[in-house]
Amino acid sequence: METLKNFSIMFLGLFLLISSTLLSLTSGEIQRYQFVIQATPVKRLCNTHNRITVNGMFPGPTLEVRNGDSLEVKVVNKARYNVTIHWHGVRQMRTGWADGPEFVTQCPIRPGGSYTYRFTIQGQEGTLWWHAHSSWLRATVYGALIIRPRLGESYPFPKPNLETPIVLGEWWDANPIDVVREATRTGAAPNVSDAYTINAQPGDLYKCSSKDTTIIPIDAGETNLLRVINAALNQPLFFAVADHTLTVVGADATYIKPFTTSVLMLGAGQTTDVLIKADQRPARYYMAARAYQSAQNVPFDNTTTTAILEYKSSKKGNAPKPIMPSLPAYNDTNTVTAFSRSFRSPRKVQVPTEIDESLFFTVGLGLNNCPPNFRRSRCQGPNGTRLAASMNNVSFMLPRSISLLQAHQQGIPGVFTTDFPGTPPVKFDYTGNVSRTLFQPITGTKLYKLKFGSRVQVVLQDTSIIAPENHPIHLHGYDFYIIAEGFGNFNPKRDTSKFNLVDPPLRNTVAVPANGWAVIRFVADNPGVWLMHCHLDVHITWGLAMAFLVENGVGELQSLPAPPSDLPLC
Ligand code: C2O
Repeated sequence: METLKNFSIMFLGLFLLISSTLLSLTSGEIQRYQFVIQATPVKRLCNTHNRITVNGMFPGPTLEVRNGDSLEVKVVNKARYNVTIHWHGVRQMRTGWADGPEFVTQCPIRPGGSYTYRFTIQGQEGTLWWHAHSSWLRATVYGALIIRPRLGESYPFPKPNLETPIVLGEWWDANPIDVVREATRTGAAPNVSDAYTINAQPGDLYKCSSKDTTIIPIDAGETNLLRVINAALNQPLFFAVADHTLTVVGADATYIKPFTTSVLMLGAGQTTDVLIKADQRPARYYMAARAYQSAQNVPFDNTTTTAILEYKSSKKGNAPKPIMPSLPAYNDTNTVTAFSRSFRSPRKVQVPTEIDESLFFTVGLGLNNCPPNFRRSRCQGPNGTRLAASMNNVSFMLPRSISLLQAHQQGIPGVFTTDFPGTPPVKFDYTGNVSRTLFQPITGTKLYKLKFGSRVQVVLQDTSIIAPENHPIHLHGYDFYIIAEGFGNFNPKRDTSKFNLVDPPLRNTVAVPANGWAVIRFVADNPGVWLMHCHLDVHITWGLAMAFLVENGVGELQSLPAPPSDLPLC
């Protein structure tokens, strides 16, 4: 009897041991970080400014985790601004409270306050990033989030010798918060930036920048996995490396069927993983980024940022100037189209084919007539108006006293309505010569309600109001398949036949073609309130956003849990 008992205890012990090792193999680790938001002196373009940073670092710390890991990031706000942090592209399954957009999923962290973001990476591998989601703080509050395969698993391509984040940014020789405040006051377009940056350095084509230029050393024959992130506030960017071919293997933390290219275009918010092989004559080669400017007759920052890919065996000392890549013309939409049409999933994927919600959203700019009580100085947009932007003619306004997610969960009325239109309230020739009477949007905090599990298609249609433009539309809490894109007005009779339901790419941000459209599909399997917006911050400022309210499904596993106890109060 006793032996039998001992035996069963031993057996139970063994069982527990095996199952706990299995569990630790599959469920990942907890990675803890502390982010102190603080003003830090930063010198760029000959001038020193106090800029808001994380832990005094610019760019902020790179987070390196594995698929399956959980993150706990304690954010302590020692700055004089309200702040929140968004984990761009993280699916946040049932952890909407950790998503971060100010007044959408949380009230901001006040100066002196703190909040711990807790979430798990589930099934995502590649490159994402994090950034402030409050006013224009993300101009300097951003960094890379690298997700490697689970322990014991490997990349679906040969292991590179090196891995380097390439974070593209945008720098103002002024306080970016003042830049946006001024634009909000006047109603005019904000000043464009003074430089682009690679890993926070403008590079040696700018004044006072040569000794700080980012250098990326490589040995002949080696391969480097460049994790390119477009963290610029307001600009889609081209990126190329002189004389080197890039092999695209991933984007937005999903793998892509590899293809080669000499140039990348990243909409603001997008990431692209590329392999680069040191197979050229040992020398120094510029990697460079500059604007893709799809809107015509609109001022933009036309400067070029550079870093240097330096073969270790190349002559140091009085080395000749690095070789410059040729970048496409600023307005080269053909290159952008060819590039974005090269994206495929590596294999056949499960695209929803039955659709429960077929939506059509216009995205574009607008003009608000000047309110009678406004001074002229506050109406500096075209012809004495104020610039605006909208989706389906609704210019999105954030609540001020509570977040949308809290209002939803606690059933607080009067914060938002759920009447966001599923189709444009007025149909017109979106990409034609639009009548001035259609320029003025309405303002509102309108959400679109989705039943848990509903299969959603959204046609995103650019408009030519004021200026057609390539809009990087980002959806929080989800990845979506981009099943088609094209130019002109979307026409279901003609364009449905172009849908790729076999191997479309899965992404969190789609660059909607200027004067064109893109079609995305996803399944609403993550309850909560999820912002969808243009990732050009100037356009969010003007209202180019909406939010989905995804209802709970059945039972705990399909429902949003209660908020964490340290969720900031308004
Ligand atoms: Cu990277 Cu709502 O944004």
